[in-house]
Amino acid sequence: LELWLRQRQHMARGLPKQKPIAGVKEVIVVASGKGGVGKSTTAVNLALGLMANDQSKSVGLLDADVYGPSIPKLMNLKGNPELTDKNLMRPLVNFGIPCMSMGFLVEEVAPIVWRGLMVMSAIEKLIRQVDWGNLDYLVIDMPPGTGDVQLSITQNIPIAGAVIVSTPQDIALLDARRGAEMFRKVNVPVLGLVQNMSVFQCPKCSHQTHIFGSDGAKELAQTLGVEMLGDIPLHLNIRETSDKGQPVVVSSPDSPEVSESLTRKPRPSHNPKRGSITMAM
Ligand SMILES: Nc1ncnc2c1ncn2[C@@H]1O[C@H](COP(=O)(O)OP(=O)(O)OP(=O)(O)O)[C@@H](O)[C@H]1O
Ligand SMILES: [Mg+2]
Ligand SMILES: [Zn+2]
Repeated sequence: LELWLRQRQHMARGLPKQKPIAGVKEVIVVASGKGGVGKSTTAVNLALGLMANDQSKSVGLLDADVYGPSIPKLMNLKGNPELTDKNLMRPLVNFGIPCMSMGFLVEEVAPIVWRGLMVMSAIEKLIRQVDWGNLDYLVIDMPPGTGDVQLSITQNIPIAGAVIVSTPQDIALLDARRGAEMFRKVNVPVLGLVQNMSVFQCPKCSHQTHIFGSDGAKELAQTLGVEMLGDIPLHLNIRETSDKGQPVVVSSPDSPEVSESLTRKPRPSHNPKRGSITMAM
């Protein structure tokens, strides 16, 4: 026991100190192991869903993908952040959500070729040199993978929980599992899994096809002992609204592709229309 305690102390000393983000109550990261499974889409709609579900909550969105920022396009934002008199960047705001992304700071066409340390200091800036105001939730859209960037984000800021996104395909699930294990190792609670692109319904004949498999993420959630937070169909409207910068949660809140994504019954709400777009929380 003593040895174990000493090891624990040693480990605690070895870890960098977690410093809260000024003004931010809870940080939620949206992650996956594999790329292209729908993290950014989920992060955006989660942020909007959290706010729509309880309008008294303020929600921000941080794009931690400095190589391939998606938030400018998904949130229909561009331009350079202004500086406050304290020299902090003012987030750009759309749909009531303050956002920060590398995409606001560099030219769209410029190739970003950076080494690890530069990536980390860029992310530090995007997190801390920003006037977030007072936020109940900051949703972080993570880059794909379980490498140094993901690890150092989890070690540098206190994170309330991680949402893992996966398609039901074996290779995606394997990476999702790796992601979940990484978070557990650094003591970040895994809030649960979102299964994305499980079912495609033919718009002509309504026939359903499970392109990437049907229940893979559900089974993984069971294995890991975490919750299934949502099951999002592969739907043209989700892709089109994303590309237009009109996220589906705001542009078609009552559509089946939004309501069918819910595995949990929405909480009762004073505003029934709003109540139907609880997502993943
Ligand atoms: N349920 C869905 N139905 C239709 N299209 C989807 C769905 N989810 C995501 N997409 C589309 O798939 C593409 C990839 O999604 P997204 O950018 O959210 O993935 P990502 O995991 O963030 O990718 P990356 O690893 O590159 O950051 C986008 O074009 C998006 O619009
Ligand atoms: Mg992304
Ligand atoms: Zn058909």
